[in-house]
Amino acid sequence: MTVFGGLSAPCLYLPMPLKQLRIQHIRNLTNVTADRLSRINILYGDNGSGKTSVLEAIHFLGLTRSFRGNQFRHLVQEGETRALVFAQTDSLGAGQVKPLGVERSLDADVRVRYAGESLDAAALAELLPIQVINSDTFDLLDGSPGIRRQFLDWGTFHFDPAFIRLWRGFRRILKQRNSLLKCGKIDPRVRQTWDAEFVHYAEQMTALRQLYIEQLRPGFEQALSALLQGVEVRLLFSPGWDRKRGLEALLTENLERDLRQGFTSLGPQRADLRFKTGSLNAADRLSRGQKKLVVSAFRLAQGALFHRLNNRACIYLIDDLPAELDERHCRQFCEFLEASANQCFITCVDPDLLSRVWQPETDVALFRVESGTLTHRGAPGDQT
Ligand SMILES: Nc1ncnc2c1ncn2[C@@H]1O[C@H](COP(=O)(O)OP(=O)(O)OP(=O)(O)O)[C@@H](O)[C@H]1O
Ligand SMILES: [Mg+2]
Repeated sequence: MTVFGGLSAPCLYLPMPLKQLRIQHIRNLTNVTADRLSRINILYGDNGSGKTSVLEAIHFLGLTRSFRGNQFRHLVQEGETRALVFAQTDSLGAGQVKPLGVERSLDADVRVRYAGESLDAAALAELLPIQVINSDTFDLLDGSPGIRRQFLDWGTFHFDPAFIRLWRGFRRILKQRNSLLKCGKIDPRVRQTWDAEFVHYAEQMTALRQLYIEQLRPGFEQALSALLQGVEVRLLFSPGWDRKRGLEALLTENLERDLRQGFTSLGPQRADLRFKTGSLNAADRLSRGQKKLVVSAFRLAQGALFHRLNNRACIYLIDDLPAELDERHCRQFCEFLEASANQCFITCVDPDLLSRVWQPETDVALFRVESGTLTHRGAPGDQT
């Protein structure tokens, strides 16, 4: 049994964020209800049956948008003008189940109601922490620094409530500094004032990002050794400028270049995470299955740290878990999920292996997905 985050046995009675789900007009799901969600939910069915669409619906519930980053109109069922997802949730883990509904129409109007109150996007993201592991998650290694910053900021946002205010403040100053740079000429006194503000926000938000990564690193290493033996990956944080030198001095030094380019070249907007295997980038060195396990270890470590700090579970949406993995690694992945506190929604085409990997005590349910419908098939072994 995997030992992680202080958990050495399967967690049998952990609070689950989502108890019930109703989905309307998301992709091929017209009106789907799941009344009995478990901690581990396996959605299986043929290609095109609607498995990923169920994950999309849960993502929409937590973030009011698709996880593919494509436009909302692709998420709404063709011919419809609005999508709705409704859940009964014990997201705060306090044993109090409350209704949460997210409705969005094509004219961009979003309505979020939680226990009778309206919520804004940040409050919703805080209420329902969601982690996605799908083929796009490879971007953590292969994609641009901007994508890695999103992973980093998801964690820092949930790590310290001060981060969102600093992040917003910094974005505002950066935008203003860049528009001054685009004008081509800046009064030195005006620039100094903006640079002082810029540095103030930059230092504070970077300190939080750095602290977050330091807290995350041991969990990442533990998760990685549980999922993938024999491969060492070092996780490094790059703040976006050389911190041994003052940012204010660097801004002044780079002013000519910034004026030519019309944007600020150094600062937290250039922060990045680096994954190193030996002296190489993990992206250049690892196989596809190994990459999947590395990005999953990172995601799972984020959920474990979130749980340790907040005593609340994350929701994991894992699309096609067995893809790219052999049976041993698939089993190790499931053991890890079993020993974690997360609520998981896992899709696969063939449920055979994912029906056999759990301890009998673990709260697991199978759902058959067929032409946009969802049928609860009970626990593994209940099927005839
Ligand atoms: N906006 C939409 N309106 C209606 N149907 C849609 C929409 N977008 C996608 N679909 C359809 O929904 C169906 C289910 O797609 P989904 O991606 O959920 O399948 P899946 O079960 O995950 O399949 P796979 O095993 O191939 O990943 C597909 O037939 C797809 O073409
Ligand atoms: Mg799919």
